[in-house]
Amino acid sequence: MKSDVKDIALATEGNKRLKWAEARMPVLSLIREEFRKNKPLKGVKISCCLHVTAETANLMTTLKAGGADAVLCASNPLSTQDDIAAALVKYHKIPVFAIHGENNKVYYSHIEAALDHDPKITVDDGADLVTSLLKKRPEQTKNVIAGMEETTTGVVRLKAMAKDKILKFPMIAVNDAKTKHFFDNRYGTGQSTLDGIIRATDMLIAGSTVVTAGYGWCGRGFAMRAKGMGANVIVTEVDATKAIEAVMDGFMVMPMKEAAKYGDIFCTLTGDINVVSLDHMKLMKDGAIVCNSGHFDVEIEVAGLRKEAKKKVIINDNMIEYHLKNGNRIRLLAEGRLINLAAAEGHPASVMDMSFANQALSAEYALKNYKNLKNEVYSVPERIDERIAKLKLKSMGVKIDTLTKEQKKYLNNWEEGT
Ligand code: ADE
Repeated sequence: MKSDVKDIALATEGNKRLKWAEARMPVLSLIREEFRKNKPLKGVKISCCLHVTAETANLMTTLKAGGADAVLCASNPLSTQDDIAAALVKYHKIPVFAIHGENNKVYYSHIEAALDHDPKITVDDGADLVTSLLKKRPEQTKNVIAGMEETTTGVVRLKAMAKDKILKFPMIAVNDAKTKHFFDNRYGTGQSTLDGIIRATDMLIAGSTVVTAGYGWCGRGFAMRAKGMGANVIVTEVDATKAIEAVMDGFMVMPMKEAAKYGDIFCTLTGDINVVSLDHMKLMKDGAIVCNSGHFDVEIEVAGLRKEAKKKVIINDNMIEYHLKNGNRIRLLAEGRLINLAAAEGHPASVMDMSFANQALSAEYALKNYKNLKNEVYSVPERIDERIAKLKLKSMGVKIDTLTKEQKKYLNNWEEGT
């Protein structure tokens, strides 16, 4: 079995963490048991390009339990947990191509290795696997029946592909399931991003001014949690409706050019490029912390910062201090890559439980239904989303009411009014 991981000797540690996460992923565990019995993915080759974490490992073992022949490569050079990669190879016999800190060349060679598997189904987080497939191996696309996408940024890319009519198979936007983005994007990103910032800086959040660029699901979660820890939160936005929402949620809203002067910590969660530009950084206070929690490392103008700096000091593994010509210092975290996975461990298992339950059930759905799907981007079927919500609630021991006959009738009746 071919693999490329940092150190197989890390496998025992990794497997302990994999099991710890498993205990917090009851919905995925239930699906795994069903898959083990029914083998819905029997013999299906699946190539996954995901953050190599303890939670992802549990998705991989679920796909394998369903009979899939699955391989995994990293979806970001800094997010791989090397002990987990080793555990998947040694204890679960799942090929992995991922090394924490790999350079871009190795990163893309690992994507190539995953594509060498000749997948029937692809699973992406950011759409790098599908993009490489379409660009570099057009002949192989005929073997692919469908793919799944985990994140907002990836879904945006796929929709652009569908618009340009270059998508060669249907894609399921797992990100858009309610049981995914309501929880993973909001509570997962909220907690893990702060975790990453705190681990990298050891800063006190209380009393600091935190600038959140973007008020989508991820930005909302981050702003909410930063406020909860006592920060003064400023939100920047380009969307008028989201800006109103931020104002009514109690945040100050202003353009980045303005916010740049006030922030102690800046975090981008937008999916767009140069949201924090060099010009913005020149306006910042001495010692400002700048980081990104969006999928790609394009949200901060890092190249410009490096060029402008007259000196750089490596403070720790995840923080570099750049000395600007104006005398101020800018502290960049994790090279502008996603701080929650580079400096911390990503979202906690209990939210990834729902995200990856959507992935597993979408793989089964795609296999059964691909003949009826076009080369477009589809939502996760509502019945899958609802089933996951019900299973999660049950696993949490929370009971809810059910509609009475009278209430159902009332909801279907347009005649009754005042
Ligand atoms: N994305 C964010 N957090 C993650 C995690 N823990 N595992 C996999 N992908 C993630």
